[in-house]
Amino acid sequence: MSEVRFDPVSRVSGELVAPPDKSISHRAAILGAMSDGPVRIRGYLRAADTAATLEAVTELGARLSGAQPRGAGTDLELVGAGLRGADPGADEIDVGNAGTLLRILPGWLAGQPRGTWTLDGDETIRRRPVDRVAHPLRRMGANVDFREGGLPPMVVEGADLHGIEYELPVASAQVKSCVLLAGLLADGDTTVVEQIPSRDHTEIMLRAAGADVRTEGGRVSVSGLRRLELSEVDVPGDFSSAAFFIVAATIVPGSELTLRGVGVNPTRTGLLGILERMGGDVQITERVGAGGEPVGDIVVRAAALGGTDVAAPEIPCTIDELPLVALLGAFAEGRVSVHGAEELRRKESDRISTVVNGLRALGARIEEAPDGFMIEGTGGLAGGAIDAAGDHRLAMLGALAGLASREGVTVENFDVAGVSYPGFADDLRGVVR
Ligand code: S3P
Repeated sequence: MSEVRFDPVSRVSGELVAPPDKSISHRAAILGAMSDGPVRIRGYLRAADTAATLEAVTELGARLSGAQPRGAGTDLELVGAGLRGADPGADEIDVGNAGTLLRILPGWLAGQPRGTWTLDGDETIRRRPVDRVAHPLRRMGANVDFREGGLPPMVVEGADLHGIEYELPVASAQVKSCVLLAGLLADGDTTVVEQIPSRDHTEIMLRAAGADVRTEGGRVSVSGLRRLELSEVDVPGDFSSAAFFIVAATIVPGSELTLRGVGVNPTRTGLLGILERMGGDVQITERVGAGGEPVGDIVVRAAALGGTDVAAPEIPCTIDELPLVALLGAFAEGRVSVHGAEELRRKESDRISTVVNGLRALGARIEEAPDGFMIEGTGGLAGGAIDAAGDHRLAMLGALAGLASREGVTVENFDVAGVSYPGFADDLRGVVR
């Protein structure tokens, strides 16, 4: 498998357009497939995860009527299958490595008038729990099943659904989205209650598609609907991909980098608050993009960092960036702690142990906790080797560690970065000096 070396650099500078948002791309394809009529998706992310979603929805009856590459994305024209029109003939759905597809799609399928589908994927997806979506769907009247331990393959049979009120036991935008999509097909109202807000891309896009989404405090409600009409989506740059560059420019002294067109929805940008407390230098010029998602240009300069504590309320809006918080901690002078993040153990890898073991092997003073980690910053990292462990974000974390380290880092199995960001290594080469 691929082994890539990342040597120390003298600075990070220039400009970069972040690749399109993965979460929003998944939702655009799924809500597009659920819609009647054509949907134009500008800048659909070209990556392994989102390719799996496009393939799944076309198998389920959506039709791709145009595709034109643009940057790291593709401008697509999709003709939906309709809210109750999923093709019952498509019995096997391969979700690949895409947890978001695995958890959101069943919301649509569970309410279909007919059909039975099996959702399965690669080796790592078979370790990602699906009982978290099966439980609320069953309460709505769905026929769903899964393997022992709450794991995929997951079988979904179309059924008549009724609305429920569901309090999320774990903060999860995937579970919230799944229940809301099923709610569109259910009799009556469906309400999801969340203690801490998770990303709200589904709510924003559903409104654009004509659904009446009511939010009040931590409650999100939808009602059963006859049809969904998403007509266009402009996918902004992915904050979670841009975050790697925000961190690179922060920890490599002398850096200054501009990131263009990044989605800055506050349910995603917890890293910025954490970085600010640590002494980071990040400025944003924000505007509202087409489709209701906030978009911004971000200017980052290198900064000397101190410690901070990150607790439960900040976890959902920083969930995919917590490995980067650990890396920032290694380059800080002071102590960084993260708690309330046990969900990290259920990501593409057990991200508490892969991050802790990976960074420790590079010279970090980091300790594992059941729900997070503590790191004593020493202002830098020696270097060495790190295995991506089948996790795209770990592969990219290793690359950053390398360019800011004293001796460089070899990332084993680096290829997996293509799950969310196939152009990552090229983009990085373009901004390092
Ligand atoms: C996602 C939600 C988060 C996140 C994942 C994408 C989404 O997962 O970690 O990368 O697109 O809804 P959870 O819903 O499990 O928190």
